[in-house]
Amino acid sequence: MAGNGCSSLFGLLSVMALSGIMCVEVPKLKLNNGKLMPAIALGTYLGFDQGGVVKSVNKQLANVVMNAIDIGYRHFDTAAIYETEEEVGEGIRKKIEEGAITRDDVFVTTKLWNTQHKREQVPLALKQSLNKMGLNYVDLYLMHWPIGLNDDYTFSDVDFMETWRGLEDVQKSGLAKSIGVSNFNLDQLRRLIKEASIKPVAIQVEVHPQMIQSEIIEYAKSESMVVMGYSPFGSLVMRYGMQFPGPKIDEPILVEIASKYNKTTPQVVLRWQVDRNVVPLPKSTNLKRLKENIDIFDFKLEQYEIEKINQFHNNVRYTLPSFWQNHPYYPFEKIDNPQDNPFLNKRKQ
Ligand SMILES: NC(=O)c1ccc[n+]([C@@H]2O[C@H](COP(=O)([O-])OP(=O)(O)OC[C@H]3O[C@@H](n4cnc5c(N)ncnc54)[C@H](OP(=O)(O)O)[C@@H]3O)[C@@H](O)[C@H]2O)c1
Repeated sequence: MAGNGCSSLFGLLSVMALSGIMCVEVPKLKLNNGKLMPAIALGTYLGFDQGGVVKSVNKQLANVVMNAIDIGYRHFDTAAIYETEEEVGEGIRKKIEEGAITRDDVFVTTKLWNTQHKREQVPLALKQSLNKMGLNYVDLYLMHWPIGLNDDYTFSDVDFMETWRGLEDVQKSGLAKSIGVSNFNLDQLRRLIKEASIKPVAIQVEVHPQMIQSEIIEYAKSESMVVMGYSPFGSLVMRYGMQFPGPKIDEPILVEIASKYNKTTPQVVLRWQVDRNVVPLPKSTNLKRLKENIDIFDFKLEQYEIEKINQFHNNVRYTLPSFWQNHPYYPFEKIDNPQDNPFLNKRKQ
């Protein structure tokens, strides 16, 4: 396995050991174009509240990214809509300037927003993202949704295949090393693969114990694509400031597995993803939990343990933008009662 830049920190090892910093060598997955993707990424979406998208204050996120690099994270997941690209880029650039890593050591994923789906808009959108990050290229550019929107958020009729041509353009011009999609359903992914000139390397979807995504994982494997799993902790953690129904951090089945490996239940859920060939994208801005979440590469679940966790599946999504459900390319099941949608309405258990 190639070094990931932890080794370039080895000269500092005694200092790091003294300050209690560990650096985990994260394994890498080979993509269908031969490039390598680190098997876990740091999620950098800070969520939303009444004021809209939550923003980093006092460079908190840039510092988190620098700490994350110190402890071994080499893959960062951001998006134009998260408004975190600037600080993700800043944290990475500072670590490159310090000589701790090179640009080749890190894998940066960002995403095209829905209002820039026309083919000619795609290179401009990616250049805007790159300018914010202060980088020359991204390792992976994803179409965030198959849904095109006009500037005023009315539905646009741009076909996602037109958008894909724009993603192919940015890969050909070198602005993105690889391209892929997010929030596509299986039929949409099949159509994309059939009509694409460049095959996507990855699909990013919601994956956690209540949304196990077996069909997409199986299909992606058959096409040599990587699945990236967002919101990996599912109901284990608070979402939108609330605790939702579903397995919690003290769920007995998870606790039993965690005790066997001397790990925590969040670590078991992340390892469950790794063992199902999913690249988890846990978000944390807390140093203790950053370390906990990356410390999952020294154990492996048994098949029966994976299946036990699979049994929590009940098709619950936390990202359910039903306000788009009449769009022709809405990827998810439509719901009859949007008032029951936890994504839109804060519901107490
Ligand atoms: N493609 C898409 O449409 C899409 C949609 C949603 C998310 N994503 C990506 O996926 C990433 C992760 O998803 P997410 O942020 O929704 O959910 P998540 O990573 O499942 O959960 C994040 C929450 O878990 C807490 N947490 C982290 N580690 C923990 C641990 N070990 N123990 C207990 N709590 C822990 C975090 O708090 P602290 O920060 O305080 O630790 C935070 O409140 C996003 O940041 C984004 O990059 C993509």
